Amino acid sequence: MSADSSSGPKSEAAASETLRPEPVTTVKLKGTGSYTPKRVLTNKDLTEIVETTDEWIVTRTGIRERRIAAPDESASDMAVEAATRALASAGLSANDIDLVIVATITPDMPFPSTACLVQDRLGMRKVCAFDVEAACSGFIYITEIATAMLQSGRFRHALIIGTEKLSSILDWKDRATCVLFGDGAGAAVLSSQAPSGSGVIDTRLGSDGSSSGILYMPGGGCRIPASGESVAARHHFLKMNGREVFKIAVRIMEKATLEILERNRVPLEQVRCIIPHQANVRIIEMLSDRMQIPMERFHVNLDRLGNTSAASVPLALDEALTQKKIGTGDYVVLVAFGAGLTWGATLVKL
Ligand SMILES: CC(C)(COP(=O)(O)OP(=O)(O)OC[C@H]1O[C@@H](n2cnc3c(N)ncnc32)[C@H](O)[C@@H]1OP(=O)(O)O)[C@@H](O)C(=O)NCCC(=O)NCCS
Repeated sequence: MSADSSSGPKSEAAASETLRPEPVTTVKLKGTGSYTPKRVLTNKDLTEIVETTDEWIVTRTGIRERRIAAPDESASDMAVEAATRALASAGLSANDIDLVIVATITPDMPFPSTACLVQDRLGMRKVCAFDVEAACSGFIYITEIATAMLQSGRFRHALIIGTEKLSSILDWKDRATCVLFGDGAGAAVLSSQAPSGSGVIDTRLGSDGSSSGILYMPGGGCRIPASGESVAARHHFLKMNGREVFKIAVRIMEKATLEILERNRVPLEQVRCIIPHQANVRIIEMLSDRMQIPMERFHVNLDRLGNTSAASVPLALDEALTQKKIGTGDYVVLVAFGAGLTWGATLVKL
């Protein structure tokens, strides 16, 4: 490396911000699959649980109903269903997979990882399996991790899954949060292949822990372990400052989308569809307005599923593909934000 005056940590950081390293292999999106539990919880049903109205929920969020997992249905159960469908759509068997990554904030248990439970349930070889916790940006994070691992040449086929049973951490006495979320799982198979012009082109991730206090669950970790007191204080439920999250979400998702396109010199007009994290239709409408792209070019399913955190982007991606809203040759941007704060955007050419 030359020792010119611009070298050093600062300039390297600046370079990594702007330059996309040339990939050695292409990582292809081989297949997707999703699963949502049978039980539908409508806004009307919620009026019997908390003081709210269908009108308030629809006008403030766009959500009409969400799915709720059965009491004995866990994040790994839903992940297995979504993964089985993703494998079928990729034309691969569980035996072909050599990497499993699960994104979730509602694992079956703190350990072992939900990915290990999925590896076992699918009868896979004893391959690398682990969980990632990046909240609602989780699927974008695991897309980047799997892509880098596939590009290393050490892995051929990765199964990546976002799965959540958020109903298990919602405070059903807090109307400001319990109306927003739902359960489900979405999965994708990524495979390495010879360089080509399509596949997962690039991902950009970010985080800002200084805003960790606007969306979090205080209990259950080492700081506030489970106790009679922690349960009584409702520490084992999701807490959120909705207004703050809303403001940051719009700004961050716009920035992440524009940056990933700029870095890869793909004009916004060439993007067939944006698959945003499904938190609130008003957030997506504001994005549409600020970026001057019609709402039809965003895929939205939160009216039926609510916010499913790490499952939200893969559920929407699978739905857009199944509905043939997107297909071969299309540029698609996946973009999300979530607790952490975390955020990320992925550019894919199908
Ligand atoms: C949560 C959210 C819908 C609230 O909408 P808002 O317009 O900001 O509403 P506010 O929180 O200011 O509350 C307005 C009023 O509605 C009330 N309210 C809150 N939830 C309600 C509900 N389910 N039904 C009826 N009223 C409700 C509040 O108590 C408040 O009443 P007050 O004015 O008498 O105090 C919105 O802030 C949001 O979507 N934020 C982003 C959340 C998000 O994306 N989270 C996931 C991140 S991954």
